[in-house]
Amino acid sequence: MKKKIKIFNTVDQLSQYFAKKLIKGLRKTPEGAYFSIALSGGSTPRAIFQYLALHFKDIGGWEKLLVFWGDERCVPPDSDDSNFKMASESLLNQVPIPKDNIFRIKGEDNPLDEARRYSDMIHKKVPSKKGSPLFDLVMLGLGTDGHTASIFPGSQHLFESDQLCKVAQHPESLQTRITVTGKVINQARTVAFLVTGEAKAAMVSTLLERKDGWEKFPASQVRPENGKLLWLLDEAAASDLKNKL
Ligand code: 6PG
Repeated sequence: MKKKIKIFNTVDQLSQYFAKKLIKGLRKTPEGAYFSIALSGGSTPRAIFQYLALHFKDIGGWEKLLVFWGDERCVPPDSDDSNFKMASESLLNQVPIPKDNIFRIKGEDNPLDEARRYSDMIHKKVPSKKGSPLFDLVMLGLGTDGHTASIFPGSQHLFESDQLCKVAQHPESLQTRITVTGKVINQARTVAFLVTGEAKAAMVSTLLERKDGWEKFPASQVRPENGKLLWLLDEAAASDLKNKL
């Protein structure tokens, strides 16, 4: 696993770097082929998606993008809690991605059924090797508790699941979630953590500087087997790192 850590002065500079990576991937995708991405949720990606839509909506190639999610809250698609709603408002409704290339996790449906349906959808649409899908890019956020996607502390077993998607639960709100597992994350060609804000600095430092107990956090299990691991941080999220790596 190749790991690269990049620290940016501003979220806009982080967004620009990420956008250029994505656009480069689209441009390298041959005619008739697709570039598959799993979007992260929460609040961090909103600014990044808005930057993409504002600066890159006319670049061409969006029809090559297959859009999935790394996790979703079990809420209707018009809920303010929905990762689909956030991504649609900030990016997907602003750029020419064919609607048939957007694969929403149906948070309103029975979670167990939806985890199964979404696993099947990924199997069907994303090229795989030895039963594991090879996403071109998986975006991940980081919780202050060290969770990623919707794999929370105490649920690390979801990383080892032989399923692509599992039902999860937020430990505080008890909100039911659907999450991809390590079988998706660690087979991706590129996994990118996008982490901003002072609140994440302690966890970023714990994980990247491998402080005591770092391995008990779910985010520490993100180790792409053959792919690249990118940590894209703003100065605030990197502020506890001793040496700026
Ligand atoms: C979600 C996410 C989750 C998120 C982190 C960070 O559905 O909430 O996928 O893993 O990325 O909790 O969330 P923020 O970006 O809101 O800090």
